[in-house]
Amino acid sequence: MANTILAVETSCDETAAAVYTTHILSNIIFSQTAIHAPFGGVIPELASRSHIEKISPVVQESLRKAKLTLPDIDVFAVTNKPGLPGSLLIGTCYTKALAWVFKKPIIGIDHLEGHIFSSFLDNNVPFPHVCLTTSGGHTSLYLVTNFGEFTLLGTTLDDAAGEAFDKVAKVMGLAYPGGPLIEKLAEQAQFIDFFSYPRGTKKTLDFSFSGLKTAVLYDLVKKGFYDLSEKKLTQEIPQHTKEQIASSLLVCIKDIFIEKLKLALIKHPSVKAITFVGGVACNKYLRNAITTFAHNHACSFFYPRPEYCTDNAAMIAFVASYKAQQRLYNNYSLDIFS
Ligand code: KG4
Ligand code: ZN
Repeated sequence: MANTILAVETSCDETAAAVYTTHILSNIIFSQTAIHAPFGGVIPELASRSHIEKISPVVQESLRKAKLTLPDIDVFAVTNKPGLPGSLLIGTCYTKALAWVFKKPIIGIDHLEGHIFSSFLDNNVPFPHVCLTTSGGHTSLYLVTNFGEFTLLGTTLDDAAGEAFDKVAKVMGLAYPGGPLIEKLAEQAQFIDFFSYPRGTKKTLDFSFSGLKTAVLYDLVKKGFYDLSEKKLTQEIPQHTKEQIASSLLVCIKDIFIEKLKLALIKHPSVKAITFVGGVACNKYLRNAITTFAHNHACSFFYPRPEYCTDNAAMIAFVASYKAQQRLYNNYSLDIFS
């Protein structure tokens, strides 16, 4: 009989809970985007306060939707690393308390392992495959050989791809998060590369996006829209220029992703599939580009539905399901980052 798992995720700015058996019974997410939007990024103290308010209603809603109650849960799971310490602590303490009260096992899950296996919620992905994980906090390539078995091939040396979208959006005077807005603007400019921003090094599987962000900033200075000493826009950027910058940025990031995937397949010719996960994987233009690339390289390609791309507890529950099968439980002294 499959375990009934309740998973909790509070590593950053989403309070999430999901119930899983052999499939997802509920997946509830409270996003704090509106709380952090006025600041152009996540404010850790505000994130913790919101998690405290929302964790109980979100967990209760996940149980209600699954038509279950707490005594029905066999295994409790929680993201206990990596993330904002104050946010992780709330999910971890809350879930540990539930597990202790009901005398059930608890499993601490790595948030990144959650993202890596998020495409399995809707698909049977073959092994070995390459996973491109890209969010506001991470940009990494993994070789995934089995459930719970993966090797880091390359990671960002500075900013994450999502962070590049968010930071460029901020200097352009756009709202947070910038990724979806950049995608909409780029579509208006038909995804043409107007300004050929730098692609960085092609020789390794590591990524670097801070140079790209700086290149866009200096382009805005050159075009007379941004004052570096005042650190602010001197005037509203005309709509068509915003579209051209967004389009050039998106094409540049697409080229970097494709270049890295190409190198990964050369280094690991046994790879049968590619997965694209994390918040940035919501981007349809990037998905289409990787679809074509995968097709041309005889690989299958998988990405999660949007609610499994951005932070969620369904992916945490899925990882917990294969760990529970192996009885890889933690004890009640589970801590963050352990
Ligand atoms: O996975 P996620 O919800 O949170 C982190 O773990 O960081 O990802 C959020 C990131 C943000 O940087 C946001 O700008 C980006 O994902 N994002 C996108 C799109 N939708 C969200 N980036 C590009 N295009 C999108 N459509
Ligand atoms: Zn994430």
